[in-house]
Amino acid sequence: MRTAVYPGSFDPITLGHLDIINRSRAVADRLIVGILANPKKQPLFTVEERVAQVRKAVSGLKHVQVRPFDGLLVNFAKHVSADVIIRGLRAMSDFEYEFQMSLMNRRLRPESETVFLISAEPWTYLSSSAIKEIVKFGGSVKGLVPAIVEEELRRKYRDTHDIQQSV
Ligand code: PNS
Repeated sequence: MRTAVYPGSFDPITLGHLDIINRSRAVADRLIVGILANPKKQPLFTVEERVAQVRKAVSGLKHVQVRPFDGLLVNFAKHVSADVIIRGLRAMSDFEYEFQMSLMNRRLRPESETVFLISAEPWTYLSSSAIKEIVKFGGSVKGLVPAIVEEELRRKYRDTHDIQQSV
């Protein structure tokens, strides 16, 4: 039984992330989605909110578990007995950062093997930061994130009075 970890900030989860989660079936029998509690950028959603959103989004997928983590990814991977780290690649622009991160993770834990899965074409231009910006300025992200996430984004920006309408 091969266990893989799919780490990220998931602030918030998009249909691009879900595409990678579905594709992970090809390389892992069990997938742990690891949600970084304190990413470098101040997250919009708390780690509890992000974990709940991802759990709802993957509720139909029996091979997937969702857990928060803090600290080094390789330590989390070891803790959940995962030797495979899955990352999604959308375009060449992702490559440099991912290449550096995978080599550093290998240096920290040589047993870790990073496997890159290529996103389906409709998601190549999709990112969590674009999603937040679109909702912040009153645009629709329907069909780009799970419906529950779209609702929570609107609620979050409404509660903070941060929705900005252009022109
Ligand atoms: O969704 P993201 O923000 O691109 O995910 C980045 C993530 C969470 C995979 C990365 O920041 C990470 O692994 N952070 C944990 C800290 C760590 O292990 N750093 C050393 C990696 S070079």
